[in-house]
Amino acid sequence: MAELGLTYVRIGEFAWSRLEPRDGELHFDWLDEAVGVLANAGLQVVMGTPTATPPKWLIDKFPEILPVDPDSGRTRGFGSRRHYDFSSAVYLDEALRITEAMARRYGTNDAVVGWQTDNELCCHDTTLSASDAARTAFQHWCSEQYATIEALNTAWGNVFWSMEYPDFSAIELPVGAVTETNPAHRLAYRRFSSAKVVDFHDRMVEVIRSHAPGKFVTHNFIPTVDTGVDNFALAAPLDFASYDNYPLGRADIKFRDRSAEEFRKYMRTGHPDFAPYSHDQTRGLSKNGFWVMEQQPGPVNWAPNNPRPAPGMVRLWTLEAFAQGADCVSYFRWRQAPFAQEQMHAGLLRPDNSKAAAWREVEQAIADVVALNLQDETKQKAPVAIVTGAESYWVSDIERQSESYDFDDIQFDYYHALRSIGVSVDFVSTDADLDAYTLIVAPGLPIIDDAFIKKCERSSATFVFGPRSGAKTYEFGYPENLPPGPLQRIAPLRVLSVETLRPDCVEGLSWNGKRYDSLIWREELDAPNGGVLAQYDDGTPAVVRYGNVIYAGTLTSKDFLQDFFRQLCGDLDIGVHDFGADVRVEQRGNLMFAFNYSSREQELPLDGKTKILLGSRFIKPHDVTVWKQ
Ligand code: GAL
Repeated sequence: MAELGLTYVRIGEFAWSRLEPRDGELHFDWLDEAVGVLANAGLQVVMGTPTATPPKWLIDKFPEILPVDPDSGRTRGFGSRRHYDFSSAVYLDEALRITEAMARRYGTNDAVVGWQTDNELCCHDTTLSASDAARTAFQHWCSEQYATIEALNTAWGNVFWSMEYPDFSAIELPVGAVTETNPAHRLAYRRFSSAKVVDFHDRMVEVIRSHAPGKFVTHNFIPTVDTGVDNFALAAPLDFASYDNYPLGRADIKFRDRSAEEFRKYMRTGHPDFAPYSHDQTRGLSKNGFWVMEQQPGPVNWAPNNPRPAPGMVRLWTLEAFAQGADCVSYFRWRQAPFAQEQMHAGLLRPDNSKAAAWREVEQAIADVVALNLQDETKQKAPVAIVTGAESYWVSDIERQSESYDFDDIQFDYYHALRSIGVSVDFVSTDADLDAYTLIVAPGLPIIDDAFIKKCERSSATFVFGPRSGAKTYEFGYPENLPPGPLQRIAPLRVLSVETLRPDCVEGLSWNGKRYDSLIWREELDAPNGGVLAQYDDGTPAVVRYGNVIYAGTLTSKDFLQDFFRQLCGDLDIGVHDFGADVRVEQRGNLMFAFNYSSREQELPLDGKTKILLGSRFIKPHDVTVWKQ
């Protein structure tokens, strides 16, 4: 590790059965030795707490720790990982106990410079549980939220289908019913489950902090779409958020339904906006910078198909993360483990200790980072913010209305359109300070509160709201003044009806004398005093403008979004970089980076005076060029 030039090593994240092989019998000697070996080689340790893998003796002692799958009603058993229920009070105690034991042991050890909580919270669909403990905790949560059962029944509209509850102790989880359960009930279950994860995590962080003063605490997040929780709340007590970046595994899953022709060009690179989409979101969760805690170095084992990265991509992904503001990129894993579930997962070393293909690329990436003095370059705010949040995901999951309506796809399309024209984006929550931004985009914000509207009213930025914005009340009702509900204060239009269509039954959208697509989700708008920017085929308004607020009533295709944002950014003096197909541009401090995801050499439109620090104006496939701004 030292020979390669690594700085940090994360260890311990699944080590409970070795730390405590039997109830109360703690063995730290082996871990002391490991920390000592790493420290003697000049490496700094990030200690993972092992709570993602409660050991067998603990599960046998308290079987109620196990979560219950809400879809099947089956208990999810021991034998892999993440087999615990966030509502289990017993597990919380046990998790705090082992965390405290570790924090006491290593909190002030100089070699241990920071901590990682648990591992990929919520991964493998573990946010929701339908256990008895979860039901009791949900009933308690409801009583705290609503105070009286009448208030809950009214808020959820339980008079419908005779769903009224006589008291809090009668409340069920919204699972296992004959047909669709009440969306308000499901939204409450999501809010409750998210709060449980956040509480569990907050307690861990507290314990670590009390024994490890001055050390950083982080967590390795999976993509927002997969946690199902309020990641902004989850990240709140951390020094910074980290992300586990598996561009090929993720691309294989995300583009499962695309044609081979469309997918093949990204098969060994990942889509050029895919890793950046998660990096930008992770940076948005962080107070300071962010880390990539796990970077894919070769084929993984868990996607439907697991190709090798194209030569150059491990270096490209590494530099890309730094360009997006990362302070560290760490690889998973060091050595391929010749046993158990991940034996087909590549590491920097093969099981026989020989160097795998990524080794040379990591060596090169380290040299590049050093040569560029990256630590002196601070990531600046982007000109554009995308406003996002867990509720957008929850509403999309709970009420699709069209099987093709998927909030994450919609948000990704907006992001992709902006990035493909070279515009950088920050992801923010509705609570964020919006002052720094020129353009603020909400691809779909169904539940909007008064505080956010007030912020919009005070802001001089231009806003773009996608369809379904303001379409739900806090309790998943239909706004009585019609959607976009509270948004009518800044964009006084009304959505008269919504239709959803099969994705292959596309209709027209006319803008600037050109015809584009209107698809999947289409709103009938009544926009009496609005400026009509784009129209449906029948001449009715599809995209309208009220002062600095633009509202789009339809989903559309990526060429419309690109053209529309290109013009809007031009009007707002936001610099656009159209650098060619599958080339992406990023800025960190005074450094400009171009990344070539394509398999052909491309010429970057840089003039002769440009001071190129790395690479060339003729950027090779899967290569990186860096120049001084
Ligand atoms: C992550 C996880 C690692 C390892 C890796 C495999 O989800 O944190 O422990 O399983 O994926 O790619």
